[in-house]
Amino acid sequence: MSTTTILLLSFLFSILLSNLPPSSAQQQPLTLSSFNSSTSPWLPTQNRILLSPNSVFAAGFKAIPTSQNHYTFSIWYHDLSINEIVWSTNENTPFNASAPLFITTSGNLTLNDISGHNVWPSSASGNPNSTSLSINNDGNLIFSTWQSFNFPTDTILPTQNISGTQIISKNGKYSFSNSTRLVLISSTDSYWVAGKAFQSLDKFGRMAQDSAGAFITSDFGATRYRRLKLDNDGNLKIYSFDTDLGQWIIVWKAVQESCTIFGTCGPNAICISDGSNSSTSCVCPPGFKPNRTAIEGCEIKIPMTNPENTKFLQLDYVNYTSGPSQTKRIDANNFTFCQASCKREPNCRGFGFKYDGKGYCALQLEKLVYGYWSPGTETAMFLRVDSSEKDVSNFSGMTQLLETTCPVKISLPLPPEESNTTTRNIAIVCTLFAAELISGVIFFWGFLKRYIKYREMAQTLSLELLPAGGPKRFTYAELKAATGDFSNLIGRGGFGDVYKGELTDHRVVAVKVLKHVTGGDAEFWAEVTIIARMHHLNLVRLWGFCAEKGKRILVYEYVPNGSLDKYIFSQGKVKISESESEMVISPPPTPVLDWNIRYRIGLGVARAIAYLHEECLEWVLHCDIKPENILLGGDFCPKISDFGLAKLRKKEERVSMSRIRGTRGYMAPEWVGGDPITSKADVYSFGMVLLELVTGTRNFEMQGSVMESEDWYFPRWAFDKVFKEFRVEDILDSQIKHSYDNRAHFNLVDRMVKTAMWCLQDQPETRPSMGKVAKMLEGTVEITEPNKPTIFFLGDE
Ligand SMILES: *[C@@H]1O[C@H](CO)[C@@H](O)[C@H](O)[C@H]1NC(C)=O
Ligand SMILES: *[C@@H]1O[C@H](CO)[C@@H](O)[C@H](O)[C@H]1NC(C)=O
Ligand SMILES: *[C@@H]1O[C@H](CO)[C@@H](O)[C@H](O)[C@H]1NC(C)=O
Ligand SMILES: *[C@@H]1O[C@H](CO)[C@@H](O)[C@H](O)[C@H]1NC(C)=O
Ligand SMILES: *[C@@H]1O[C@H](CO)[C@@H](O)[C@H](O)[C@H]1NC(C)=O
Ligand SMILES: *[C@@H]1O[C@H](CO)[C@@H](O)[C@H](O)[C@H]1NC(C)=O
Ligand SMILES: *[C@@H]1O[C@H](CO)[C@@H](O)[C@H](O)[C@H]1NC(C)=O
Ligand SMILES: *[C@@H]1O[C@H](CO)[C@@H](O)[C@H](O)[C@H]1NC(C)=O
Ligand SMILES: *[C@@H]1O[C@H](CO)[C@@H](O)[C@H](O)[C@H]1NC(C)=O
Ligand SMILES: *[C@@H]1O[C@H](CO)[C@@H](O)[C@H](O)[C@H]1NC(C)=O
Ligand SMILES: *[C@@H]1O[C@H](CO)[C@@H](O)[C@H](O)[C@H]1NC(C)=O
Repeated sequence: MSTTTILLLSFLFSILLSNLPPSSAQQQPLTLSSFNSSTSPWLPTQNRILLSPNSVFAAGFKAIPTSQNHYTFSIWYHDLSINEIVWSTNENTPFNASAPLFITTSGNLTLNDISGHNVWPSSASGNPNSTSLSINNDGNLIFSTWQSFNFPTDTILPTQNISGTQIISKNGKYSFSNSTRLVLISSTDSYWVAGKAFQSLDKFGRMAQDSAGAFITSDFGATRYRRLKLDNDGNLKIYSFDTDLGQWIIVWKAVQESCTIFGTCGPNAICISDGSNSSTSCVCPPGFKPNRTAIEGCEIKIPMTNPENTKFLQLDYVNYTSGPSQTKRIDANNFTFCQASCKREPNCRGFGFKYDGKGYCALQLEKLVYGYWSPGTETAMFLRVDSSEKDVSNFSGMTQLLETTCPVKISLPLPPEESNTTTRNIAIVCTLFAAELISGVIFFWGFLKRYIKYREMAQTLSLELLPAGGPKRFTYAELKAATGDFSNLIGRGGFGDVYKGELTDHRVVAVKVLKHVTGGDAEFWAEVTIIARMHHLNLVRLWGFCAEKGKRILVYEYVPNGSLDKYIFSQGKVKISESESEMVISPPPTPVLDWNIRYRIGLGVARAIAYLHEECLEWVLHCDIKPENILLGGDFCPKISDFGLAKLRKKEERVSMSRIRGTRGYMAPEWVGGDPITSKADVYSFGMVLLELVTGTRNFEMQGSVMESEDWYFPRWAFDKVFKEFRVEDILDSQIKHSYDNRAHFNLVDRMVKTAMWCLQDQPETRPSMGKVAKMLEGTVEITEPNKPTIFFLGDE
């Protein structure tokens, strides 16, 4: 072999080496500003990326995590710690390492899959005069007249016009079609419909809709990287990138209750969401078992052979549907009629019924799908099973609700005059929710009529429209008139003074004039919209607001009986330091609440907090649960006030306020420890309130004197009495101790005390979620013995 050959060989070898694709992933990729025929081909293994001029977006090959050596061509946010993919060629037709992206000299863009088909989405064959692929500052990948913005995958970027396109979740299960409706693709049933079609999102967090509509995200106003994405769970969300946290956070989502998303569980199954986060689980209803031949869904245990020979199992707060075409709505004046109607139809699988006296009766024919459990569903499902079925329903609570959270025409005894026997006969009649529903309807019509006013407001805020059903905006003059120039002061709270008033439509309202409120009009509006969206029987309803000349006023429904503290803590005892919610007008002697009512109050409050935790995103944590914030309706229906307001506060204000408020221990230990505050902090505060309900004393008082001792810790004391000394009687409120009947009340009181102990656990992780707490109180789950609470904590260092 001659030296020349050797030289030539080594020369060739070195060329080969230099052309080998870089093997290490750490190596900086070669960045291109555009890709054309002279830079072709581009192999997946070549470490190259196409960068937008502002370096925000990049495009290139991405290996599919689940299958090795398979790639997609994708676009992602480049200058963030998390490379979030915002566009991609179809993962179901990936290509292997030897498939090149190629632009021919005649201007054809090709990307061949294993079988040699061009998998570039839609025809990007281009035109011979424009032969380069590039990505612009908005993240739009452009090749001649083809642009990725016209072929979105599961994400829409700011400035991208979503009109007329559709996005599909990555798993192919859900679509957001015609930029209006969320659809479960396999059934074409839609589970969420936007009032107006979406158009495009801007970087400030405003989503423009058709006919000048718009909605705004919770962090509206901040200039951030944002994206609208249809996630695999079927929910449409807007994320924004928080640079301080270094992560994407959810600032808007279409569906509030994840379980109402179709297809979350299989046929016949019931979706249940955990109260503390938005995770869901699927369970089979009684009389059903998991379908062995399918990965999801349930099948009936005893097939129904004879329709005559069937019975119904009541599932409270459960809603099923059999699809729009198979649901038969009938008007039934009463339950018997509804049940008989279902029984008459051989293919009726069950029916939904509302106890509101309005005749809601929905027969479900042929099949049962999209089942879910939610306290917001004011219906019970009656599931048809064979008469021989022995399972009993464990979805209960509705009957309690009828008796517990909305009793009307209740009369309570006044404090006993040293007499030990008080007979009481309380008739509980419940016209469930009716008032709630009616006011909802009136409110909606009011909203339509005031359309023009919204326009005005929108103009001043350079925004367009509120989402339908938003809170009403009042002028300062209107509220001044309604409250008689703010003359009737009924309360003074940490967030501001409260006045009683009457609107022109004769609704009685509580008008809260906020102080120390931060942020601009738009921010205030955004918060108020979120608060107003929270509808629950046990939450004080926000009807409207006023934002004018720096004034921030909230208009609430008026709750006549005042706050819980007046009832459970007998007067003349030690006053809470400059109590914020101290009533200005001294009320007449308050009646003593009996055990049943105390139990109802506990349960109602637990459900409302569970609802808040489930329904809201992180920013609506209540963080301030105490007897002063629990108002009692005319029927002693408990209603939580002031929820969500903490968010309106300036941050420093918020911290110092909570310190003051938390003096005397409604605040969980983690407030002092500096640990992250989660929904479990609310659970702690609730536990304290529950214990106070039982004992009738403030957690820092005993026999009328303030316990300043370092050794005094109320939960620990109660724990010892109940679990060590087995002397539950010792902790009961002395005012009604005499009426404590072991047989009738043991169960209620026992559940309240044990649940409170679980809520008061030192470690947030060991406290149950609020959803679980409600179930513990209802008695639908077993309560085991908790650990002893030990942390001594009064809040004021
Ligand atoms: C292709 O791109 C390279 C670098 O981006 C550029 O230098 C070259 O002129 C381009 N060629 C054509 C035909 O556009
Ligand atoms: C390029 O695209 C055009 C139009 O789609 C097509 O007619 C032509 O055959 C393509 N050329 C090559 C080389 O693939
Ligand atoms: C990759 O795909 C090409 C066709 O696009 C095929 O010829 C080749 O055999 C594939 N290689 C592997 C390793 O699968
Ligand atoms: C492309 O270039 C050719 C000449 O090279 C010209 O005749 C033709 O009109 C151009 N087409 C477009 C769409 O610009
Ligand atoms: C989006 O496109 C539609 C038509 O496809 C148009 O009517 C609308 O004005 C566009 N919206 C924006 C914000 O560009
Ligand atoms: C979208 O709109 C088109 C026509 O405007 C209609 O035919 C189609 O059914 C719509 N799709 C959905 C899912 O609503
Ligand atoms: C939600 O809670 C469940 C159980 O409580 C837990 O398994 C799950 O990991 C939680 N999910 C998130 C996102 O925190
Ligand atoms: C169980 O699952 C199989 C497979 O998906 C399905 O064909 C069957 O109808 C299911 N059974 C019931 C009772 O739903
Ligand atoms: C039950 O769910 C269906 C669809 O999921 C819905 O249309 C219906 O309004 C719900 N019924 C009640 C009473 O919430
Ligand atoms: C129940 O309603 C049906 C018709 O809606 C009526 O005929 C029947 O008398 C009612 N039954 C009772 C017990 O009220
Ligand atoms: C009812 O029982 C079933 C089976 O025992 C269980 O999977 C489900 O979680 C229970 N439901 C409730 C609401 O506790």
